Amino acid sequence: MTEQSSPRIIPVVGHRDAGLALPEIGLHAELPSANGVLNDARGRPLHDLRISVTDRCNFRCSYCMPKATFDKDYPYLPHASLLSFEEITRLARLFVQQGVQKIRLTGGEPLLRKNIEVLIGQLSSLRTPTGLPLDLTLTTNGSLLARKACDLKAAGLKRVTVSLDGLDDAVFRAMNDVDFPVADVLAGLDAAQAAGLGPIKVNMVVKRGTNDHEILPMARHFKNTGIVLRFIEYMDVGVTNGWRMQEVMPSAEVIDRIHSELPLVPLEASSTGETAQRWGYADARGQHDTASGEIGVISSVTQAFCGDCNRARLSTEGRLYLCLFASQGYDLKSLLRGATSDEAISAALGRIWQRRSDRYSELRSSLGADSGGPGGRRIEMSYIGG
Ligand code: GTP
Ligand code: 5AD
Ligand code: SF4
Ligand code: SF4
Repeated sequence: MTEQSSPRIIPVVGHRDAGLALPEIGLHAELPSANGVLNDARGRPLHDLRISVTDRCNFRCSYCMPKATFDKDYPYLPHASLLSFEEITRLARLFVQQGVQKIRLTGGEPLLRKNIEVLIGQLSSLRTPTGLPLDLTLTTNGSLLARKACDLKAAGLKRVTVSLDGLDDAVFRAMNDVDFPVADVLAGLDAAQAAGLGPIKVNMVVKRGTNDHEILPMARHFKNTGIVLRFIEYMDVGVTNGWRMQEVMPSAEVIDRIHSELPLVPLEASSTGETAQRWGYADARGQHDTASGEIGVISSVTQAFCGDCNRARLSTEGRLYLCLFASQGYDLKSLLRGATSDEAISAALGRIWQRRSDRYSELRSSLGADSGGPGGRRIEMSYIGG
């Protein structure tokens, strides 16, 4: 076959899933009341909503949007398929009535979504059933942060989390795979700090053999800055990143490495369902030196934290996913664009959450994913949001 006539193989990705059947929400159905207390089938409350606002990104991190798949022919969602800001805010309000207290905007790269400040303004006006504002935050690669930090703060964003996989410019450029300089992300972090978008967190995905030599330089750099650096075990999200267990560096090893130079003490979790285990820098007496700060490790592969996972995920086109590793989602957009009342949508959300029993990371080994097996078909992180 000539190159021209050879068929393009596009891996099956998230927005091609058939969608799960929505629960019955007829008039006679018994509706779970929206009183801010909702538990799933494993007794886990609904607390955290992560909203993906675009499936596009200007980076091509190999663990998330590898170039081989996410090239110029990749079928990104057309604009009409995306939820509008009004649709997102309507759903967010209903989620908040059902107990959500934290909203994280993700992508792809959320700052690529046009007029994102307008959405932030709308979401920041939401209040919990007890009248509290939300913990409203956003995960970004930092590339546009220097330009946007002040406007984001003014719109009502509380804090940001910035992804940064190394300080060495060559390593960073190779990991983002678009030759983006690290200095610009560091400038974005400075701008976020100056704008008061704190507490700021920095997330570093560690891939053994690729950037694990950056662990210590990163720890040294962010110690004493007030920024919380978190090390994430490379995960088998999606199906395109060629994940291999050999490239995962267990968090225990990360902690050992840092502890050997910068002594650490374990800290209590700051809330239930937290993704990270916290460690503080120790003073000479072995106590936490709060001025030096803390780090975190997110050990989804070696120490699953599904037991109290309280996170729901809304995809760019309005599907509700109950797990980062889900293969199918519930099509909420069809409810929004049909003439469904708020009460009925809220009841559907309640039903869906009440039936939830997902715990992929706990089951990973038994699904064969650790040993190179497929571990099931999964949606891509850029579609569902980190
Ligand atoms: P904070 O409220 O700032 O602590 O945020 P968070 O840790 O809840 O969210 P963040 O987006 O910073 O999460 C960091 C990383 O942890 C993500 O990019 C994922 O790699 C991973 N992660 C987050 N939530 C989950 C989850 O529910 N399951 C798994 N397996 N990994 C998760
Ligand atoms: N493993 C772990 N974390 C990932 N992220 C994306 N892909 C992966 C993966 N394969 C997370 C990173 C990044 C955020 C946007 O998504 O934390 O900072
Ligand atoms: Fe973009 Fe973040 Fe994915 Fe990297 S990890 S490709 S910055 S969405
Ligand atoms: Fe939650 Fe699924 Fe992650 Fe487990 S694997 S913590 S259930 S999102």
